[in-house]
Amino acid sequence: MQLDLKFIREQFPIFQTELGQKIGFFDNAGGSYPAAATVNRLTDFYKNYKIQPYGPNALGQKAGDAMDLGRYTMAKLLNVSKDELTLGSSSTQNLNTLALACTSIVTKGTEVIISEQDHEANIGGWERLCQLQGAILKIWKVNPKNGELLLEDLEKLISSKTKIVCVTHSSNIIGSINPINQIADLLAPQNIRLVVDGVSFVPHELPNLDELKADAYVFSTYKTYGTHQGVMVVRQHFLEELHPQCHFFNQPFQYKWLDTSGPDHASIAALAGIGDYFEAVYDHHFENKTIPLHQKARKASHLMNAHEQNICTQFLEAINQLPIRIYGRSTMEGREANIAFRSETISSKSLMEGLVKYDIAAKQGHFYAYRLLKAMQVPDLDDGVIRFSFSHYNSMEEVERCIDGLRNLLIA
Ligand SMILES: Cc1ncc(COP(=O)(O)O)c(C=O)c1O
Repeated sequence: MQLDLKFIREQFPIFQTELGQKIGFFDNAGGSYPAAATVNRLTDFYKNYKIQPYGPNALGQKAGDAMDLGRYTMAKLLNVSKDELTLGSSSTQNLNTLALACTSIVTKGTEVIISEQDHEANIGGWERLCQLQGAILKIWKVNPKNGELLLEDLEKLISSKTKIVCVTHSSNIIGSINPINQIADLLAPQNIRLVVDGVSFVPHELPNLDELKADAYVFSTYKTYGTHQGVMVVRQHFLEELHPQCHFFNQPFQYKWLDTSGPDHASIAALAGIGDYFEAVYDHHFENKTIPLHQKARKASHLMNAHEQNICTQFLEAINQLPIRIYGRSTMEGREANIAFRSETISSKSLMEGLVKYDIAAKQGHFYAYRLLKAMQVPDLDDGVIRFSFSHYNSMEEVERCIDGLRNLLIA
């Protein structure tokens, strides 16, 4: 079965606009388009009951109910308990808060391992925590040739002092998917907690967190067809070890322990829209309507992923012929749909600007994976790489236009 792209694009208000139809958008890893279902939930909240929620009046009740539904839907989508869910303003904020909450685990002389492949969001807070506590930050280095992380390198770094390992589920530059459950199996015998950054992964494949052995998992809903928020799941056993970061009087509520930002109420309500969207995609393509939401969403997500893999394969095959260095695998095996490269003769910035003529929107830079680009010896870190991050709503026509533009810019 194939994804019905016409149906998909009808679900996004941007494709009903002139610009949305004209521009081939390939900066989805920077933030995806929101689905109509999300926008509807958000505007419904703002229009009809945007007051302080949970008050003893009909409006306060409606606002509170809408927020509860948003939290409940996200928990259902991920197949976790809603008490394990922290909703913050971004993933960076959530990870920083998590690091600060780990002061009784990461103590003087203990070790935290971060990966060189990660976005700075899953590094900086851990580095500061180690400095604060007199702990040691160890770096799981990538292979400089291809940016990949090897399990045997992690094995060598682990010691009896290691308390936490932080790694990305997939790289926002090279797209490679890391084997989270194999990493977790390495760590479990020594009770080392695993913190996974799913920001780059989730827009391409919705994980079943009940099967993934991460102790904490974060992602950003503004890259997953939703509003600008960070979702963080901290499993119960890990949560219980943490030092709450909330107001003291909120401590009886475990789901508030890592909530430091007073998140936007309407955005929380709009999370239900992500559920609506996945359900609509499932219902449009599949017959059996009785399975739970997380199963529906994952089936829909597989279809969406298959479409991305298909158009990305054709993109990769075409750009393999161009005079560029691709950072990451040259096929789609074991990777998601972020493709980054650099030319030796044309700056990434000039390429990005040159593509505007073809109505192609891509981005250039280090994308906060500064350490990864440095390790792979990208010559100019500010110019960095040009990145094409695909979403399931991208069409083959957009991809072909992008390839044409790149050929003209790089070969002509
Ligand atoms: C892989 C990865 N991790 C973390 C982040 C940070 O997410 P947020 O903007 O929600 O803080 C990003 C943002 O681009 C990212 O790509």
